Amino acid sequence: MAAAARRLLSLLLLPLAWTRPAGCTDPPGGGWLAGTVPEEERCTVERADASLTYSLFLQRFAFSRPVILRGVTDNSAFRALCTREKLLAAFGARPVRLSTANTYSYRKGESRGCPPQRPPPPHRRAGPSRGGARIAPPPPSSPLPAVDVPFQEYVEQLLKPQDPARLGSDTLYFFGDNNFTEWGPLFQQYVPPAFGIPGTSPAYSFGIAGSGSGVPFHWHGPGYSEVIFGRKRWFLYPPDKTPHFHPNETTLAWLHRTYPALPLAERPLECTLRPGEVLYFPDRWWHATLNLDTSVFISTFLG
Ligand SMILES: *[C@@H]1O[C@H](CO)[C@@H](O)[C@H](O)[C@H]1NC(C)=O
Ligand SMILES: *[C@@H]1O[C@H](CO)[C@@H](O)[C@H](O)[C@H]1NC(C)=O
Repeated sequence: MAAAARRLLSLLLLPLAWTRPAGCTDPPGGGWLAGTVPEEERCTVERADASLTYSLFLQRFAFSRPVILRGVTDNSAFRALCTREKLLAAFGARPVRLSTANTYSYRKGESRGCPPQRPPPPHRRAGPSRGGARIAPPPPSSPLPAVDVPFQEYVEQLLKPQDPARLGSDTLYFFGDNNFTEWGPLFQQYVPPAFGIPGTSPAYSFGIAGSGSGVPFHWHGPGYSEVIFGRKRWFLYPPDKTPHFHPNETTLAWLHRTYPALPLAERPLECTLRPGEVLYFPDRWWHATLNLDTSVFISTFLG
């Protein structure tokens, strides 16, 4: 009887043992809240795996279209440091700078937001060096006005699922404007995608945002975005196809109001990014994001 019960119990627990290595005590999803935004399976962004060579990347994607790279870097060590518990323990008391999630918040440097302006020359975007990655003005957020709160207060009180009725300009978001002195030791554990763009150097931008949040359409220089925890849906248009959107509208509101009425030919390229996947976006491509879960993510901007 007891043996049968034990066997039944072990059968019930088997799926858990498979998805979670024995001895692993971290909560799945890093302890960050899973979202309720429905998943869209449609993915029209090309994908490539670790067999993609650098010369093929330069030839096919670097200057012409986005691509999702899978299995190119292993960031499990960085991921282990980005659980809710670990980040709160390390950074809870530190102030973080929040920005508003609307297109008009992208005002740092005249290179962002409205083509066909020319980007500023590279030296204007340069910054001091630290751990291989340049500390540039952290695109894409430039809060006007900025709001500084202790990281713990952001996580425990502000990091909520997006209210669909709220304007992007009223929604606070932690992305970029990172203090590289305080967060540097963490960022040093991040392994960026190996493929650079000639004449550019990388600068990181780290963020954590609630499910349903996201930045509306904007553009800037080329770069990568990787999801550490959670799922993040991306919408992209080439530089010459300015999307229909209101700059104060959240991505969620755009998805509900504008997206469904788009003729097929006017739909953006889109895909949902999961942990372990890295999106490459070329120079000046319009893009908007939507976090399906509470997401922890890091971008590598190539300026
Ligand atoms: C970054 O953190 C350091 C150390 O706490 C602090 O001295 C510095 O003022 C901060 N920099 C910014 C730009 O907030
Ligand atoms: C967007 O929101 C900002 C801040 O609330 C406001 O100043 C601006 O007028 C709004 N823009 C539009 C086009 O509604």
